[in-house]
Amino acid sequence: METNCFLSVLILCFLLHCSISWSLTDITIDEDTILTLKTRIAYDPNNVLATNWSRNTFVCNWIGITCGVRHHRVVALNISHLGFTGTVPSQLGNLSFLAFLDISNNSFYGSLPYELARLHRLKYVNFNHNQLSGEIPHEIGNLHNLEVLMLADNYLVGIIPAPIFNISRLNMLAIGNNTLSGSLPSSNVLGLPNLELLELTFNNFSGTFPSFITNSSKLKYLEMGVNSFSGLIPITIGNSLTNLEWLGLAFNYFTSSTPDLSFLTSLSNSKNLRAVVLSANPLNGFLPGSIGNLSVSLDSIYIKSCNISGSIPKEIGNLKNLMMLELSRNELAGLIPSTLKNLQNLQGYLATLRLLLLGSNRLTSVIPSSLWKLKDILHLNLSSNSLTGTLPLDFGNMKVVIDVDLSKNHLTEYGREGKVSRKGDVYSYGIMLMETFTKKKPTDDIFNGEMSLRRWVGESLNRSIMEVVDHDLLLGEDVHFPAREQCLLSILSLAMDCTIDLPENRINIKNVVTRLTKIRATFLATRGE
Ligand SMILES: *[C@@H]1O[C@H](CO)[C@@H](O)[C@H](O)[C@H]1NC(C)=O
Ligand SMILES: *[C@@H]1O[C@H](CO)[C@@H](O)[C@H](O)[C@H]1NC(C)=O
Ligand SMILES: *[C@@H]1O[C@H](CO)[C@@H](O)[C@H](O)[C@H]1NC(C)=O
Ligand SMILES: *[C@@H]1O[C@H](CO)[C@@H](O)[C@H](O)[C@H]1NC(C)=O
Ligand SMILES: *[C@@H]1O[C@H](CO)[C@@H](O)[C@H](O)[C@H]1NC(C)=O
Ligand SMILES: *[C@@H]1O[C@H](CO)[C@@H](O)[C@H](O)[C@H]1NC(C)=O
Ligand SMILES: *[C@@H]1O[C@H](CO)[C@@H](O)[C@H](O)[C@H]1NC(C)=O
Ligand SMILES: *[C@@H]1O[C@H](CO)[C@@H](O)[C@H](O)[C@H]1NC(C)=O
Ligand SMILES: *[C@@H]1O[C@H](CO)[C@@H](O)[C@H](O)[C@H]1NC(C)=O
Ligand SMILES: *[C@@H]1O[C@H](CO)[C@@H](O)[C@H](O)[C@H]1NC(C)=O
Ligand SMILES: *[C@@H]1O[C@H](CO)[C@@H](O)[C@H](O)[C@H]1NC(C)=O
Ligand SMILES: *[C@@H]1O[C@H](CO)[C@@H](O)[C@H](O)[C@H]1NC(C)=O
Repeated sequence: METNCFLSVLILCFLLHCSISWSLTDITIDEDTILTLKTRIAYDPNNVLATNWSRNTFVCNWIGITCGVRHHRVVALNISHLGFTGTVPSQLGNLSFLAFLDISNNSFYGSLPYELARLHRLKYVNFNHNQLSGEIPHEIGNLHNLEVLMLADNYLVGIIPAPIFNISRLNMLAIGNNTLSGSLPSSNVLGLPNLELLELTFNNFSGTFPSFITNSSKLKYLEMGVNSFSGLIPITIGNSLTNLEWLGLAFNYFTSSTPDLSFLTSLSNSKNLRAVVLSANPLNGFLPGSIGNLSVSLDSIYIKSCNISGSIPKEIGNLKNLMMLELSRNELAGLIPSTLKNLQNLQGYLATLRLLLLGSNRLTSVIPSSLWKLKDILHLNLSSNSLTGTLPLDFGNMKVVIDVDLSKNHLTEYGREGKVSRKGDVYSYGIMLMETFTKKKPTDDIFNGEMSLRRWVGESLNRSIMEVVDHDLLLGEDVHFPAREQCLLSILSLAMDCTIDLPENRINIKNVVTRLTKIRATFLATRGE
């Protein structure tokens, strides 16, 4: 009995000792590896590593290092956002317990060592926002536990190695802003059934829409914009992607297999859809009425420069939460639909719009006066159409508007007043502003020959406002001097924009009103009132 007990203790001791010495050895490898990484970090702007990553203290307490609770091996290396410049040593492949590797937002350069593929426990890899170059190692496809792979915003070249599309656990793949090319595989891969995010923007990928994507039924965010993809957008894309929130395909060569863009109809199955971004693809069709059956959560539609003809379907008014609608530079004809007009009570359709861009089409309707009641609109551009009618001067509701462009239409100026020469009025208004704030008249003696009031204001504005402004308006000892100076500068710049020689280059009257309102608001705000 006693012997037995002694023996057990002995065996226990032996085992413990054994395991202690084992883990000591292994943590030493981890320590050596991290210190190798330290030697590759040539620039550490905040000098965090000099004393912190040192053999005097236990590696598990170093900054950016996390160890496992049981085995005391390095499981996470997170040195993101530290401003480091350096290279990634192949020795990192020796951190055999590593599951999280985040070096994002630094200036690591050079290539990605293929030895990283030895880290078979890796779940999370984030190398975003560095200056890494070279190709993505083919061996990365062996990391079967990988859930997140982020390599965006580097200088990577070549293709995405096909084995990556066999990593069934992969949940996020972000690889945008590189110089990658080639097509994505459509055969000999199992696909990514757990993918929720795929971000490929700003590369030069080509080939057709990768077929495995329609099998990634958990996909929420799909962004393939600004590449050279071509071919058809799958007509049934929405049938399987029922979780899709963001569809970004802009700036490619995608087209539609049917003139009524049936793929849009299928997207009504994506109940959480927020954004459809298709601009600059040769879709060559018309917008289906079923666009109104898209998710009520939809807030953005961008279909600019897609050779869309036909009219804007009235059903678009069903999209009660739409904030951004851009259909500029298409062949849209006919009316601005009545659903956009019926805004009288502001409870109605599309009252949420922030951005409505329909410029460069063939729209022929009267601008509905109710458009001016879009109180939250920031950008309104209906220019270069054939819109008719008169302009209301009631902009009171458009509280936050930044720009309105109604130019190049057939509008009657100042309809209510019966005046027609809006550009002429703008010019007179600009001169009036100059007279008011400089206490000078265009007919004054100093303005002879080449020198006009406008030129004098313009040249002096570039040097010092004190030279032009009536001295009674701007006294140096005034506590509000900076606010007044800024205000007068803004007003005189506005006056300059009103008096440009070519009428078509002058600011339009709505923008004059908007800018004056803003100048006033800024003045009151900087004066603290
Ligand atoms: C290293 O940094 C970590 C995390 O900021 C800190 O807890 C630790 O005390 C530091 N060690 C030394 C020796 O400065
Ligand atoms: C790494 O640290 C940053 C903050 O310093 C944090 O935002 C990020 O989520 C961390 N990464 C991982 C994988 O935990
Ligand atoms: C990177 O980090 C800097 C501060 O170190 C921060 O200002 C910047 O916003 C970060 N960039 C990204 C993309 O996270
Ligand atoms: C660590 O990795 C490097 C290169 O990948 C290898 O040459 C070296 O033998 C490894 N060191 C240890 C201690 O395992
Ligand atoms: C790509 O670069 C642009 C411009 O530098 C930046 O705004 C964007 O956030 C980057 N996108 C990614 C995914 O890194
Ligand atoms: C993906 O996995 C399948 C099944 O194991 C295999 O046949 C195929 O070759 C793999 N594809 C790549 C590109 O490795
Ligand atoms: C992008 O890829 C296409 C087709 O592969 C090629 O014709 C084109 O030259 C590439 N563009 C750039 C900027 O590399
Ligand atoms: C998509 O899934 C279907 C059914 O599971 C399968 O037959 C097809 O081969 C898959 N396609 C791709 C490209 O993975
Ligand atoms: C625009 O689309 C029409 C069909 O809707 C087509 O006939 C025409 O060729 C397209 N134009 C361009 C420049 O692609
Ligand atoms: C919109 O959906 C409803 C209900 O599913 C259907 O009856 C209607 O025909 C659809 N509208 C269009 C234009 O497809
Ligand atoms: C309005 O749209 C037209 C056509 O798309 C464009 O040329 C113009 O610059 C836009 N105006 C503003 C103020 O952005
Ligand atoms: C004022 O300066 C701007 C930019 O330097 C220049 O474009 C403009 O022509 C100048 N105006 C006058 C009236 O000299």
